[in-house]
Amino acid sequence: MTPTAAGPEAPAEERTAIRLRGLGKTFAPEDGPVLQDVELSVERGQFVALLGASGCGKSTLLNIVAGLEHPTTGSVTVPAEGAALMFQDAALFPWLTARRNVELALELRGVPGPQRRARAGELLELVRLGRAGDKRPHELSGGMRQRVALARALAQEREVLLMDEPFSALDAITRDLLHEELLRVWRSTGRTIVFITHNVAEAVRLGERVLLMSSRPGRVVQEWDTRPWKDPQSYGFEGSAQSLDETLAELTRTVTARLREEISRHAQ
Ligand SMILES: Nc1ncnc2c1ncn2[C@@H]1O[C@H](COP(=O)(O)OP(=O)(O)O)[C@@H](O)[C@H]1O
Ligand SMILES: [Mg+2]
Repeated sequence: MTPTAAGPEAPAEERTAIRLRGLGKTFAPEDGPVLQDVELSVERGQFVALLGASGCGKSTLLNIVAGLEHPTTGSVTVPAEGAALMFQDAALFPWLTARRNVELALELRGVPGPQRRARAGELLELVRLGRAGDKRPHELSGGMRQRVALARALAQEREVLLMDEPFSALDAITRDLLHEELLRVWRSTGRTIVFITHNVAEAVRLGERVLLMSSRPGRVVQEWDTRPWKDPQSYGFEGSAQSLDETLAELTRTVTARLREEISRHAQ
């Protein structure tokens, strides 16, 4: 990660972590474009939730940002160091302990042996797995495995963390816990996060910005800023905790209605 501070006073280029301009992707010309005219700018340190129906091109978009796919049209600007990625499946090496899975990411980055163990320990502490370091993936719950995957992604020390529906396979209670954990990790590490989901409540809960993607061709069609609800003091929101919850629930309903519109538009 570059150590430069990029506060609101920094020039726009320095504040921007990701920029997509007129981005399009076509796999098979006869099927038409999967993505078209995607415009997106993400500032450093932001938590962006990208919401869209299944099949609308969310993973394709994330894979392009990650450099795993190439766009057909338009441009992508990402940090030169690339981004860390996390998927729905933790994809840990089953024969390695949790700690070794994290250490491997450090090793790939060239962190010297003696430091690896200590750093892996710190990262496991950060995701509250300090005592599970010696366990192998099959001994861990699904939620714990995703925590290891998060620690491993953080071990790459990249400013941008791309998450493709990482909690979709987890039960509701575990997911809820991991939302809290992820927000805590985000606040303490200052990473830029793009989190993909088809779940409105998850998007509203996590994202400072909630971006809605249209269905085929996919592009960003609407955006909501949730910060006034999450940081009411800074935004001068006056009201009880109950009225805050109520406005957040209202926002969730609004976003759900828009997502439904997109889905039904696509179905016609
Ligand atoms: N490598 C590929 N080759 C051909 N078609 C693809 C490929 N990857 C994705 N697609 C198509 O692009 C569309 C969007 O897929 P995807 O990005 O996975 O959507 P989402 O993640 O929103 O569910 C789908 O119709 C899918 O079949
Ligand atoms: Mg997907």
